[in-house]
Amino acid sequence: MKILVTGGAGFIGSHTLIELYKAGHSAVVVDNLYNSNPEALRRVAEIIGIESIPFYQTDIRDRAGLEKVFAEHQFDACIHFAGLKAVGESVEKPLEYYENNMNGTFVLLDVMRKHGCKNIIFSSSATVYGDPAQIPITEACPKGHCTNPYGQTKSMLEEVLMDVQKADNEWNVVLLRYFNPIGAHESGRIGEDPNGIPNNLMPYITQVAVGKRKELGVFGNDYPTHDGTGVRDYIHVVDLATAHVCALKAIEKKCGIGIYNVGTGHGYSVLDVVNAFIKVNGVDVPYSIKPRRAGDIATCYCDPAKAKAELGWEAQFGIEEMCRDSWNWQRKNPNGYRG
Ligand code: NAD
Ligand code: UD1
Repeated sequence: MKILVTGGAGFIGSHTLIELYKAGHSAVVVDNLYNSNPEALRRVAEIIGIESIPFYQTDIRDRAGLEKVFAEHQFDACIHFAGLKAVGESVEKPLEYYENNMNGTFVLLDVMRKHGCKNIIFSSSATVYGDPAQIPITEACPKGHCTNPYGQTKSMLEEVLMDVQKADNEWNVVLLRYFNPIGAHESGRIGEDPNGIPNNLMPYITQVAVGKRKELGVFGNDYPTHDGTGVRDYIHVVDLATAHVCALKAIEKKCGIGIYNVGTGHGYSVLDVVNAFIKVNGVDVPYSIKPRRAGDIATCYCDPAKAKAELGWEAQFGIEEMCRDSWNWQRKNPNGYRG
């Protein structure tokens, strides 16, 4: 299939491009490079062994720009990664988040429809479950109250996409609810490259290990978990990428609407991750216990059985590989794509 990949220069998009080509698909990337570097696409092409990935530096809210892309290519499906994703920033800049994520998706869907491309995989998030009603989280779990505008955009866009599919059953919509992607491609050539101080756990750990930050702050050790620190379902980004390839097969079979958790089903605490990282990589990660972070929940991990049963997808990598590959990327690229 020929796939439009919005946000393809980003962390998850760049890894997904590799798995798409491996599976025999081709891709065209649209990205405004707000949170990414074109060097990622150059390296992706190098890993795949092609000259370049077709790329448009276009904002998905730019209708004329998107029209041009669709005039030049006939797409079978879109994988829609483009969006703003920093939770804290979304609380400070709600309008920017609602405008970018909602409006960008509206323009994209309208242009897709106009050009007869009615197949989409949407990057949703475990955040839509809020403080989850049950653990492990199944897709039948009710969506929860999202405490931040970022989460709201994911939850609302899920509703929008379901309504679009309900109104016109030519659409096939797959909502993938990602748990916590970490790790990197095994080559160490591409990986997560956050701007400024990382918000998320693994990039913070790797920056401490490489000497860019003094110590990790562990946000709370009084949660009702086995060691008091927060428990999450970390998933290797390459596993997450292959879930999209499996979702495309469901789209080919005309799945209508499909909603899937994409996680491993295993919960690891902050200290489990720190200890696994130290053991696997033989590097030190100094840390100290800090107060809880506002908005955090104690435990979040999924039951991934539905994705296995219906998509034939299951995670292959464990926490050791995730720690090894995150470190391999950071150590080879201490300043990310900036050299
Ligand atoms: P990322 O920031 O690395 O990638 C997103 C890409 O979209 C960036 O390259 C950015 O430049 C681009 N973009 C943003 N707004 C755009 C616009 N208006 N037009 C064109 N391009 C635009 O993030 P990621 O971690 O790769 O996440 C990809 C998707 O998955 C996002 O939608 C994110 O919300 C979602 N998601 C991520 C996580 C995570 O932990 N990384 C978890 C759940 C869901
Ligand atoms: C974050 C997002 C969430 C998104 C998810 C998946 C926030 C508040 N939430 O959730 O919307 O869906 O990523 O990408 O950002 N931790 C520390 N020290 C740190 C960083 C994190 O102890 O410096 C802890 C956190 O308290 C948490 C765990 O590590 O217990 C994971 O944190 P993080 O990587 O930010 O992911 P989530 O909180 O699950």
